[in-house]
Amino acid sequence: MNEIFRPDLLDGRVAVVTGGGTGLGLETATLLARLGAHVVIGGRRLEVAREAAASILAAGGSASAYQLDVRDFSEVESVVAQVVDQHGGLDILVNNAAGNFRCKTEDLSPNGWRTIVDIDLNGTFNCSRAAFAALSASPHVGRIISIITSYAWSGWPGCAPAAAAKAGIQSLMRTLAVEWGDRNILCNSIAPGAIGDTEGAKRIHEDAGRTDHELSRVPVGRFGSRHDIATAVAYLASPAGRYVNGTDLVVDGGRQFSFGKA
Ligand code: HXC
Ligand code: NAP
Repeated sequence: MNEIFRPDLLDGRVAVVTGGGTGLGLETATLLARLGAHVVIGGRRLEVAREAAASILAAGGSASAYQLDVRDFSEVESVVAQVVDQHGGLDILVNNAAGNFRCKTEDLSPNGWRTIVDIDLNGTFNCSRAAFAALSASPHVGRIISIITSYAWSGWPGCAPAAAAKAGIQSLMRTLAVEWGDRNILCNSIAPGAIGDTEGAKRIHEDAGRTDHELSRVPVGRFGSRHDIATAVAYLASPAGRYVNGTDLVVDGGRQFSFGKA
């Protein structure tokens, strides 16, 4: 579905979407491809990434798939090198890969904590660092767009490592916005609220029986759609986002300010 943007908006761009095989990442990869970008989908499960790339190709877009664990810096470096080699450059990096589960902090093991921080925060560093040189050479002004959540600044009872990792990503994007602003790269984050029909919302809200509770706190009265996030990414990746740097684009229907119905 793309009734919003010009169909050639991202012509000539190469975009890497980590975790692009499912959920918000897949929706984002699909939209970027519809807008003309070649999309590279990376995830641990190669068959899932391949299936996603095949669905984009079947719809007339251009996509490729790579096995990628964002925790492994040398693997990330190797994928970036192959992308640059095969497609002549890299213009857009979407740091979307993440892990999360609900667990009271007193029950959380050190390895449980480390695992989430490693995927979300360290993975975002690994991908941003590995992509720096290629993004810096982009003729379209390189973009790093990292997916966080507004729970990064409110705190997130039951999801301490994800909240801390996402807050770390937000801080990293602000730092890189300044360090790399004059290196031809814009760095921003997008903070979705609860997005329906996703693994994230299932794990964190549905499986815990908290869907109605969460929904009652969303001022606009609905969970977001995957398209709501994909279009936010497209905006930041497009020429319209050329002066946006170091910001958090909150796409949560006003949830971050809500205590529920007055
Ligand atoms: C407590 C848990 C746990 C759970 C795993 N662990 N699941 N602890 N409760 N439910 C612990 C394990 O016991 C282990 O610690 C450590 O975490 C690592 O577990 P592994 O299974 O070995 O890790 P790995 O194979 O690397 O898998 C990572 C994962 C997994 C995060 C645990 O769930 C995954 O692959 N997730 C990817 C998909 C995902 O999470 N999507 C949702 C993103 S949504 P010990 O000490 O036993 O060794 C999101 C925001 C949602 O981020 C927002 C909603 C509004
Ligand atoms: P999802 O479908 O589970 O997507 C997560 C993706 O990350 C999967 O495709 C997974 O693929 C990949 N991934 C996980 N660990 C990885 C690793 N180590 N290396 C590479 N890829 C890895 O979840 P989602 O709900 O769409 O969430 C997507 C993003 O939106 C996340 O950043 C999440 O924090 C954020 N977010 C979601 C919501 C929501 O309501 N859904 C709200 C706020 C923020 P593999 O398993 O194949 O690796």
